[in-house]
Amino acid sequence: MKVCIVGASGKLGQYLVRQALDRGYEVVGVCREKSVPKLAEVADRITIVPGPTNDRDVIRQAVAGCDGVLSVLVPWGVQQYSSGTAQAVLDFAEPDARLVFSCGWHITRDGRDRYSWRFRTALRIADRLGRLVRAVEISDQEEACRRIFASDRRWTVVRGSDLEEGESQGLPVWSRHVGDPILESNLTRRTDFALFMIEALTDDSLVQEAPAINGRTTPSARAAGM
Ligand SMILES: NC(=O)c1ccc[n+]([C@@H]2O[C@H](COP(=O)([O-])OP(=O)(O)OC[C@H]3O[C@@H](n4cnc5c(N)ncnc54)[C@H](OP(=O)(O)O)[C@@H]3O)[C@@H](O)[C@H]2O)c1
Repeated sequence: MKVCIVGASGKLGQYLVRQALDRGYEVVGVCREKSVPKLAEVADRITIVPGPTNDRDVIRQAVAGCDGVLSVLVPWGVQQYSSGTAQAVLDFAEPDARLVFSCGWHITRDGRDRYSWRFRTALRIADRLGRLVRAVEISDQEEACRRIFASDRRWTVVRGSDLEEGESQGLPVWSRHVGDPILESNLTRRTDFALFMIEALTDDSLVQEAPAINGRTTPSARAAGM
């Protein structure tokens, strides 16, 4: 299996790189030029394609020949970073490649997610502040996911809960909709977010699904019998 990891230098990306290598996968990582040193520890085991992840030529080169593409979608900057990245992956990945994208619970596929007032308030504040300082563009992450949802590719959009660091607790539980009691605890280890994405590469039951995930050992997952 040859996989491309788009956003390889970030926190989630580095977990993805390590877990892919542990499985014996051949890894191509894409990250901004200035972040290449963050991958120093694995630089001799992966191919690094430096450049902005929304640069179509960078993505075209990186995804060539890959069976899977794992993309960390982030709403940074005000230059269509997420939608540009997603579009390039959709356009240039191999026809049968598994495409797995990361985002947060705030993305909704069918409008049937039910959010707490606390969640909605926090998102509104993050959106306003982010736009004010021109650092974050949540609407562009939404646009990226709209394009993915409309695509007939073999995609999965993994929607992360709040995240924390720490040892793996196992494969997260998931639901099609936020508001499902199993997700109530809203906390996943970042390493397990990566685990879910890596597992999705070989799990065809997740093709064209947008699972919202939550830690396997959280109270709400346990209450559901996990
Ligand atoms: N943080 C949370 O609580 C949370 C909750 C739910 C879901 N998620 C999702 O989890 C995924 C990973 O998020 P994370 O918060 O854990 O962060 P992360 O893994 O550290 O990823 C941040 C990524 O953004 C890149 N980046 C940072 N500043 C940038 C800029 N100005 N322009 C372009 N790229 C920039 C980083 O690249 P460099 O290495 O080059 O800086 C890195 O690839 C995302 O899809 C996010 O939506 C996060």
